[in-house]
Amino acid sequence: MIRVALPKGRNFETATAALRAAGAELAGLDAESRRLVLPFPADRLEILLLKDWDLPRYVEHGVADCGVVGSDVLEEVDGELLVPLRLAAGRSRLSLIGRPGSVPRPGQQVRLATKFCGIARRLLVACDWSAEVVELRGSLELAPLLDLAELALDIVQTGRTLQAHGLVELQVVREVMPCLVVNRAAYQTRRDEFNVLFRRLEQAGVAA
Ligand code: PRP
Repeated sequence: MIRVALPKGRNFETATAALRAAGAELAGLDAESRRLVLPFPADRLEILLLKDWDLPRYVEHGVADCGVVGSDVLEEVDGELLVPLRLAAGRSRLSLIGRPGSVPRPGQQVRLATKFCGIARRLLVACDWSAEVVELRGSLELAPLLDLAELALDIVQTGRTLQAHGLVELQVVREVMPCLVVNRAAYQTRRDEFNVLFRRLEQAGVAA
């Protein structure tokens, strides 16, 4: 039995589609389930449904053997994890967003709202403008919309959220993709089982 942590958010569909393509049935699995620990004995899997930001910790500490999490969260949380493959579907971008025409001028000081404070600070080192980073946990598009900050560093996938608020993507900072992460000790002790899973994901064409 492999214990797999799945994110309840944006990457849930991509992660479950990948596991199913690799041969798991996961009959009746639903991201909205109230139960967060779900055994699938026929698939020899147990699924943990977690918030994206907690998921790397559960895998790092061996509570889950492996999981799927976005490279955006992974870069920010920075756990001691193996990342054997990335998934081909569910790609998005981490971008600077704001009102049209709000790219800061050289030397300008602005406020930048984000959940991704580490990435934002590294980005600012290379900018010719400066920003006070405002850490938020909720809907980042509200910050430029309601003038809490001129800019936000946020995920853009289809662009529909931006469009709905009259905001634009000012600069793409990173491509973001769902990653398979594996606990190092679990991999050492159950290498054959994991290698079968990796091979099936690759053969199913769902790995990048
Ligand atoms: C991200 C981002 C936007 C939305 C953009 O949220 O914060 O709200 O996706 O997607 P779109 O370009 O397809 O409209 P996410 O789904 O990661 O949820 P969260 O805000 O709860 O983290």
